[in-house]
Amino acid sequence: MKIAIIGTGYVGLVTGACLAELGNRVTCVDNNSEKIQTLNSGTIPIFEPDLEEIVKRNVNAKRLFFSIDLPASIRENDVIFIAVGTPSKENGEADLSFVEGVARKIAQHSQNPKIVVEKSTVPVETGRRLQALLTSHNGNKTRFEVVSNPEFLREGSAIHDFLHPERVVIGTNSESARAKMQELYGPLNSPIIFTDINSAELIKHASNSFLALKISYANAIANICELTGADVEEVTYGMGLDSRIGKQFLRAGIGFGGSCFPKDVDAFIRIAKQKGYSFGLLEEVQRINAFQRKHFFEKIKKRLGSLKGKSLAVLGLAFKPNTDDLRHAPSLDLVPWLQKEGALVRVFDPVAMNPARLKFDSLPNVQFCADEFEAMNLADAVLILTEWQQFKELDWEKANAVLKKALIFDGRNLFVPNRMKQLGFEYISVGRDAL
Ligand code: UGA
Repeated sequence: MKIAIIGTGYVGLVTGACLAELGNRVTCVDNNSEKIQTLNSGTIPIFEPDLEEIVKRNVNAKRLFFSIDLPASIRENDVIFIAVGTPSKENGEADLSFVEGVARKIAQHSQNPKIVVEKSTVPVETGRRLQALLTSHNGNKTRFEVVSNPEFLREGSAIHDFLHPERVVIGTNSESARAKMQELYGPLNSPIIFTDINSAELIKHASNSFLALKISYANAIANICELTGADVEEVTYGMGLDSRIGKQFLRAGIGFGGSCFPKDVDAFIRIAKQKGYSFGLLEEVQRINAFQRKHFFEKIKKRLGSLKGKSLAVLGLAFKPNTDDLRHAPSLDLVPWLQKEGALVRVFDPVAMNPARLKFDSLPNVQFCADEFEAMNLADAVLILTEWQQFKELDWEKANAVLKKALIFDGRNLFVPNRMKQLGFEYISVGRDAL
């Protein structure tokens, strides 16, 4: 199949590479010529395990191409995926101007029928709007079949998630588009759900918001644990064994971040409001998520007293491990808060140092360290903000020797408290210490 993917961000690039891997001829298009040049020279602009290898393999096999020529890519392909960004507007609504801009171009440059696949996360009813926009801007010259095909991949395991999905969701009212999508995704041997466009769009928002809700629920339980002396790890383990609840996304900590959950929960609340439903449940999810960061910060201040002149080693800046993505990461709040209180903040992340420099370079008293041990050297406390495997496996005895104080604030509950105690640490985590 000949496919154009418009937008080579996370979703677009992974989708393009994986569809090429399945044997299709894919052109990934972007209006950022620097990015396209970088990709054409074999460099991947984001950190994502296995992506580079799969891109290289498919470029060499002449199945994957990168281009800035949008009109030609539209003309030459029959299936066109829209994977451009849908950032949040000031009021939390999704900004659809990029999606609509691309749709206008598709309408303008299409000379034969096209299947237009909405891959970006969009509010319910966007597909319907796209269909009208495509038709009106093309003067009814050609036929467009709109498909909603939401993406469920996670950063850090994006390739695996794309190639081994638990479900593929296809929303369309066209029989021929349905057959084309079956042909495209059939080789994955995963369940394919065919539904209408509105339902497909809602499946995406409802799923992300439900996962965010699970996390906030676990975090609320963690706060009750702190007030009662219970251990949130024990509680969520006990809950998760019930298959009706499930173990995943019950990890308490300093809350969710990333480019999806915060934005999608916000957008879902707005959509509901516009339609006349007040989604108070999701507003509480946001409130709990914001509280987790503040509460962690307050614990640090409470234990250390004044932070003025204290040296704090911050381990982990990315919003989660295996990515260099800092969007909505807890570090974006915590590092400036600590620095404003007069602390010397010595930060380290295994892969997110470059994006972190862009964010924190202008802040006084933030130092970028080459590794964990440099960050911890003579520190008054260690703060773990991201659950990188290498922090789990760190030689904590060696760490204890370089620290000024053997004090750890663990925002991700990486360790068993008793083990850390045995190693000589005062260990403060989430939902496991009575206040
Ligand atoms: C999320 C969804 O998991 C994907 O299915 C979806 O496709 C994607 O959004 C999207 O809409 O594009 P992602 O944002 O990459 O994927 O990351 P997750 O692994 O879901 O983690 C999100 C946040 O939740 C992270 O900050 C993570 O630390 C936090 N989290 C996750 C917890 O605090 N506790 C948990 O138990 C699980």
